[in-house]
Amino acid sequence: MTTSAPDFFDDIAVAEDPHAYYDFARQNGPVWQEPHKGVFVVTGYDEMVEVYRDLDTFSSCNSFAGPFPGLPEDPGDDASELIEKYRHIFPSHESLVTFDPPRHTDHRGLMMRLLTPKRCKENEAFMWRLADDLIDTFVDAGTCDFIAEYAQPFAMLVIADLLGVPESDQGELRRRMVAKGPAGAVGQRMDGNFLVHLEDFFVSYIEDRRRHPSDDVLGKMATATFSDGSLPDVMEVVRVATILFAGGQGTAARFLGNMVKLVAEDKRLQDDLRRNRDKVPAFVEETLRLYSPVKSNFRMARRSTTLAGVRIPAGSTLLLLLQAADSDARRFSCPTEFDVDRRNSREHIAFGRGIHSCPGGPLVRSDGKVTLERLLDRLEDIRISETHHGPPGDRHYEYTPTYILRGVEDLHINFTCGAPARDPRISLK
Ligand code: HEM
Repeated sequence: MTTSAPDFFDDIAVAEDPHAYYDFARQNGPVWQEPHKGVFVVTGYDEMVEVYRDLDTFSSCNSFAGPFPGLPEDPGDDASELIEKYRHIFPSHESLVTFDPPRHTDHRGLMMRLLTPKRCKENEAFMWRLADDLIDTFVDAGTCDFIAEYAQPFAMLVIADLLGVPESDQGELRRRMVAKGPAGAVGQRMDGNFLVHLEDFFVSYIEDRRRHPSDDVLGKMATATFSDGSLPDVMEVVRVATILFAGGQGTAARFLGNMVKLVAEDKRLQDDLRRNRDKVPAFVEETLRLYSPVKSNFRMARRSTTLAGVRIPAGSTLLLLLQAADSDARRFSCPTEFDVDRRNSREHIAFGRGIHSCPGGPLVRSDGKVTLERLLDRLEDIRISETHHGPPGDRHYEYTPTYILRGVEDLHINFTCGAPARDPRISLK
């Protein structure tokens, strides 16, 4: 076991430059037990897919928080009973991301039946108008903090539109999320229900929509039944709504920031995208592959097993380093190179795999496409503000200090005002 390893959970330097950690971890093989928390680090693409797909061997009970708190008893070679006995001590155990089948199947079904292609299409129509409304607020200044003035409000308003959260409540929900801070702060131990600060809001929506049925996603969620015909408890519906609302914001906002940072840093890339708009979807995929906002995901071994020749005892935590797998040379050629012409970018694992794979994928792809199209239409020569981030070669960015998410806290850009016209595709119907 390598002892000079940085600590993924406690070293701020790892949060600032996770790619150095990925390289270090990969040198120890596609699966490696790190020395600080005894966690098994998975960097291999095929090995990660295997973990996501093998539901008999790996549980999602710790999907969110990783090794904290771990099982309090020695499980021997089979942890299945202890996982059920202690499920309630894992952070966010009420959230479907930590459920295993069959419970997960029912709750996921509740959510997926509502995110229909029709609803997503309507939501995308809303995005085109929203993108312009937000750009209008800063375009004349020739400069903005893209995170505060575009990415955060855009991500929040898109998900509020998707779910049907009334405008009058959006500000308060946003305030609560900001006050709570991001999940997985470096050096801290996550505990309890991470989303409890949002739940009372959603309780009143769901109760109200049970009394007064409505056609929006929350309204349909309130009256939807499980596959056996039974009506879920209000709190069961609330937790599905809460994870959709919260899961969709910090991630999408950071993703948009990562995307625009790339375009503003690389003039050749920006010019290429301006000339070849058909490359925008491929650019979005390549950004997801190398600069996804989600760094880590976790599983617990139900039983003792072997992965890539490494023995993993029952009850162990596996740390899935998504971007490390997405730069596995066995899957992607010249893996750390950002290449919009790469043929297999879309094979990335940024949204996970299998039964828990991210339901927000289509929405994030639309977020990225709409945002980039409208920025390229309306802002010329987008560049990083040297006043805020320093000159090329000596840039300073403040990254969110968490072991789960990856994104900058602020992104100041300068630009020249371009075409004022609104996009003719805009339609709210
Ligand atoms: C670029 C942005 C995003 C990334 C990289 C991302 C990544 C992921 C990953 C890796 C998982 C799998 C977790 C696991 O297997 O344990 C996941 C699950 C999930 N994501 Fe996302 N996500 C993003 C955006 C969103 C958005 C916009 C929404 C909401 C609309 C969302 C809602 C969810 C939910 C509800 C789950 C849990 C699904 C389940 O357990 O069945 N995510 N996400």
